[in-house]
Amino acid sequence: MGASADAPAIHLRLAGPGDAGVMAAIHQACFAPGWDAAAIGQFLVPGCLSLLAAPTAEAPAQGLLMARAAADEAELLTLGVTPLHRRQGLARGLLRSAMERLQACGVQRLFLEVEQGNSAALGLYQSLGAVAVGRRPGYYAHGADAAIFSLAL
Ligand SMILES: CC(C)(COP(=O)(O)OP(=O)(O)OC[C@H]1O[C@@H](n2cnc3c(N)ncnc32)[C@H](O)[C@@H]1OP(=O)(O)O)[C@@H](O)C(=O)NCCC(=O)NCCS
Repeated sequence: MGASADAPAIHLRLAGPGDAGVMAAIHQACFAPGWDAAAIGQFLVPGCLSLLAAPTAEAPAQGLLMARAAADEAELLTLGVTPLHRRQGLARGLLRSAMERLQACGVQRLFLEVEQGNSAALGLYQSLGAVAVGRRPGYYAHGADAAIFSLAL
């Protein structure tokens, strides 16, 4: 599967249970503390969408996205790209692909939480049309607020 026509030629694919290890490695490169393979594995189940992105079809995956759908709504569980592979369109490709796949399953709205001050994620979400719909004060363990965005599919 390729990315959208106006996106860089990155390689996107669905992830499965055999990908839990590589997904944990990507997650741990993006977040502290990151999720281990067991934590990743609990979302590699029906009802959840898990995608991997690589710069090319031959290269190892450097980005992941996980989302969970319920009826006509979905939430973004996690999205990350390893530091050396950022600003190459991997996250945008992952998110666009997730939006298309979720819409095809009848999902109408995707909710995304982002830490206040995470300018990379805020820029990405807003570039795709996400709008701020709320805030969760002190949501993160270190006390930062979460901004909640909604993306109409
Ligand atoms: C947020 C993150 C996933 C973006 O991944 P990425 O692959 O570098 O993003 P893309 O290359 O697809 O960028 C798409 C757009 O997002 C915005 N963006 C990305 N990085 C940005 C930055 N550092 N500052 C401002 N805007 C940024 C831009 O609008 C960019 O488009 P442009 O390159 O045409 O200007 C990545 O920085 C990351 O993994 N961060 C740590 C984990 C995280 O915060 N995840 C999101 C919250 S769960």
